[in-house]
Parts: sequence; structure tokens; C-alpha cells
Amino acid sequence: MHLSHISLLNFKNYRELTLDFSPGINCFTGHNGAGKTNLLDAIHYLSFCKSYFNSFDNQNILQGEDLFVIQGIFDRNGQQEEIYCAQNRNESKQFKRNKKNYNRLSEHIGLLPVVMISPTDSELVQEGSETRRKFVDSIISQADKDYLTDLIDYNRALLQRNATLKSFFENRNWDETLMSVWDGQMVAKGREIFKKRESFTAIFTELFCRIYAEISGVRESVGLQYSSQLLDGDFEELLIKARVKDQTVQYSTTGVHKDDWLFTKDNHPVKKFASQGQQKSFIIALKLAQFFFLKNHFNTPPILLLDDMFDKLDEERVTRLAGKISGEDFGQVFITDTDTVRLEELFENREKDFVIISIRDGALQKHDYFQTGYAKK
Ligand SMILES: Nc1ncnc2c1ncn2[C@@H]1O[C@H](COP(=O)(O)OP(=O)(O)OP(=O)(O)O)[C@@H](O)[C@H]1O
Ligand SMILES: [Mg+2]
Repeated sequence: MHLSHISLLNFKNYRELTLDFSPGINCFTGHNGAGKTNLLDAIHYLSFCKSYFNSFDNQNILQGEDLFVIQGIFDRNGQQEEIYCAQNRNESKQFKRNKKNYNRLSEHIGLLPVVMISPTDSELVQEGSETRRKFVDSIISQADKDYLTDLIDYNRALLQRNATLKSFFENRNWDETLMSVWDGQMVAKGREIFKKRESFTAIFTELFCRIYAEISGVRESVGLQYSSQLLDGDFEELLIKARVKDQTVQYSTTGVHKDDWLFTKDNHPVKKFASQGQQKSFIIALKLAQFFFLKNHFNTPPILLLDDMFDKLDEERVTRLAGKISGEDFGQVFITDTDTVRLEELFENREKDFVIISIRDGALQKHDYFQTGYAKK
């Protein structure tokens, strides 16, 4: 599966752009602020119906305009898939596959698997547990539609339970029947989510440790440990036990919405003890594990989007990573970098087709583009 063509209208800093891509490695180069990352984000939109960076669709319309359009043509199992995404200010997003609207955007998720690796992913190590839950949830959801439904139902019940707790605090009016309904829903859905997260973590950790060793080239022992209150007992009992406390604090203190993953290197938390480069290797390995997990599931490599990945990694790690993504395990890859010479050195003479596309302030340098061409085998 690969993206062969994209066209943009008023998307972020692009007024109008049409580009053809290689099924191999596509590199976007240009100065800071030229629009390299924006192009990756447009590709992300076509797969996930949303931006990787900015959840407010309207803010992705070129300033001063009222509408953006992203169109892409994918080759999927030899068939052409035409994807259309448009956001009009004041209207809801339009998303079409082969000219047909979807009933629900979630139906599109998983059709065209994409994995983005970006500097903002350092949040996975640096930020709170919500970021890690979102990361895990987005992977399992792409591979398992029931998981996504359970998650939506769980979060709805959690919201209602919290509203009931708040109302008790304000009115001292305890509605036991209502509370049991929300507890029942949270328990049923929570147990499913817990089971799937537990078995996912086992498979994922194995992939992750192998990839980390390949990238770093050293025997650093790394780990991901699933932490959940549900590991300590039956969810129903835990929820009942927590009630008095929940009534006081006015929210639900127990459940899978508190789950987290502890990232370790040599048995110490990565956040505190790993260097910046080691943290970067850790994050790349997490994302490549996501790549292989989805590849195994869909039986085809997802499109890989690598944003500024070569900064902060030492030369050896960069070469190893470039070698890896040029190999046959990977399909189409998009890479951004400010350093054209580095890209040429890394990717010429590899097995895969590669093309460098130079961008200046949202405009394509056609001369550079055609000069480089597709022919570097
Ligand atoms: N809605 C918008 N309208 C106009 N311009 C926008 C909009 N959103 C973002 N931009 C502009 O896009 C540019 C950033 O593009 P992008 O992040 O793709 O740059 P980049 O080439 O990846 O740069 P870097 O090398 O620094 O990562 C900025 O100049 C920003 O102001
Ligand atoms: Mg960028």
C-alpha cells in the first residue's frame, strides 16, 4: 500500500500543491518553517481523518481562507483508493472514500495504516499517563474495532459516574440504582479493556525490546511495564471499595482510566535516567514496535512518516535507522530533514527508490525536484 499522489488546497502554509510520490523513500527538505512537517500532517489526515499535531481542524486552514482540501490517491492491493478530506470553517469535516461519504469517520480507521514518528513524541516519556494510554489505545483500536467501541462506552459510563458523584456531593442525594448502572457498565467494559491491554503489552514488549537493541546496537536492557489497579484485584470489588473516597473527591479514582506503562532502562525510569539520545532511541523503538505490530496485523507495512528523526541521534544510530527503513520490512517512507546532503549520503545506493523534494515556504522547488527524480536506485 502506498500514496501515489497528493493535492492540497489552503492547507496550513500551502495555498495549492500537487505532488507525485515514490513507493519507496520520499524526503522533504527545506528550511525551518518551510512546510515539511505540514506535508506529513496532510498524509496523516488522509489516514486518521485528523491532524497529528492540532486537533482543531479550523486552525489547519490557511490563515485568511475558509476551506482546506486534502486529496490523496493510494494504491492498495493493486486498487486505487481516492481519499478526500475537506474542512470548511463553520461546517463539519467532509471525508470521502472513492467519492462516497462515510457514515462515521471511525469506519475509515485502519484502512490505510500510517505511523508517524515526530519530535513531539517525547511526550510519551515526559508527560503524564494519559499520553501513554492514548498511544496504546490508538494502536489496539486500529487493529480491533471492538476495543474502540468498549473504550467509548467505558468513557461514557465514567463520565456519568463522575456526574453522579458530583451531584451527590452538591445535593446529598444518593441514587444507588443509577450508581450501580454506571458501575456495571464500567466493570464490563473495563475488564475487556484490561484483558486486551495486558495481552497487547506482552506482544508489544517483545517487539519493542528487539527493535531497541537493533537501533542502539548495545545491550541496554529496556522494559515496558503495564501498571493497572486491576492487577491488584477484581474490578467490581475495587470500585465498591473506592466509593467513599470517590464521593469525597467527586470523581472515580479506580479503573482502567488510571492505567499507565512504566518505561525503564536498566531497571530505572527512562524519564529520569536516560540521556536525550537514549530517550529518542526509546521513542523511535516504541514507534517502530507500533509499525511492526500493525504490519503483522494487516499483513502489509504501514506508511511510515519520520519527522526530524535524525536530530539528536549519533551517527551510528542514524546509519542503522536509515539502513533499517531502507530494507524490505518497510514499505513507503516519508522523511523530513533540513540537511539535503545528509539525506543523499544516507539513502543513495540503497535498494529502495528514493526521491528528494525541496520545499521553500510552502512552494515546491520544481527544479530540485525534477533534478533529483525517482531514479536513485
Ligand atoms: N493555518 C495556517 N495558515 C498559515 N500558515 C500556517 C498555518 N499553520 C501553520 N502554518 C505555518 O506553517 C509553517 C510551519 O510549517 P512546518 O511545521 O511544516 O515547517 P517545517 O518545514 O517542518 O519546519 P522545521 O524544520 O522547523 O520543523 C509555519 O511558518 C507556520 O506558521
Ligand atoms: Mg518540522
